[in-house]
Amino acid sequence: MKRPILIHPDPRLKKVCDPVSDVSDELRALADDMLETMYDAPGIGLAAPQVGVMSRLLVMDCMKEEHETPRPMVLINPEIVASSDEKNVYEEGCLSIPEQFAEVTRPKVVDVRWIDLDGTEQQETFDGLWATCVQHEIDHLNGKLFIDYLGPMKRQMITRRMQKLKREKARA
Ligand code: NI
Repeated sequence: MKRPILIHPDPRLKKVCDPVSDVSDELRALADDMLETMYDAPGIGLAAPQVGVMSRLLVMDCMKEEHETPRPMVLINPEIVASSDEKNVYEEGCLSIPEQFAEVTRPKVVDVRWIDLDGTEQQETFDGLWATCVQHEIDHLNGKLFIDYLGPMKRQMITRRMQKLKREKARA
């Protein structure tokens, strides 16, 4: 089932999320809903607070080209355990900040540890777009948005656009 995505500014997008204590059926259902919501948007990543659930859970799939085999991933309590000194710049966007894009510099390679839907610990090295995506989504779990990396002018401009968008949506 698709869930509505919160649009910035929203206080729930600014909060640090709580660790998941056990992988319940409810959590599995949430992960399914989040993947469906993400693919439908379409997007390559979605964090639980973006659907109003304040838990450390994210979904992603960066196989966005048509010829690539989908790789839906669910990361519970993800943690970056190592980051490369080498940086990468990507033009980022966010489903909570629709149609706004800006270049963000982040470590090019990160090692991430998480719990999967079977409750098993996993660790993997992510590079390129996957690395950017997982860092962007983990930021969400800490109440941080990609626009927080931008200068105050650009950030305020985007925030004002989103306020206007929300007013228009509320009226529609
Ligand atoms: Ni985002």
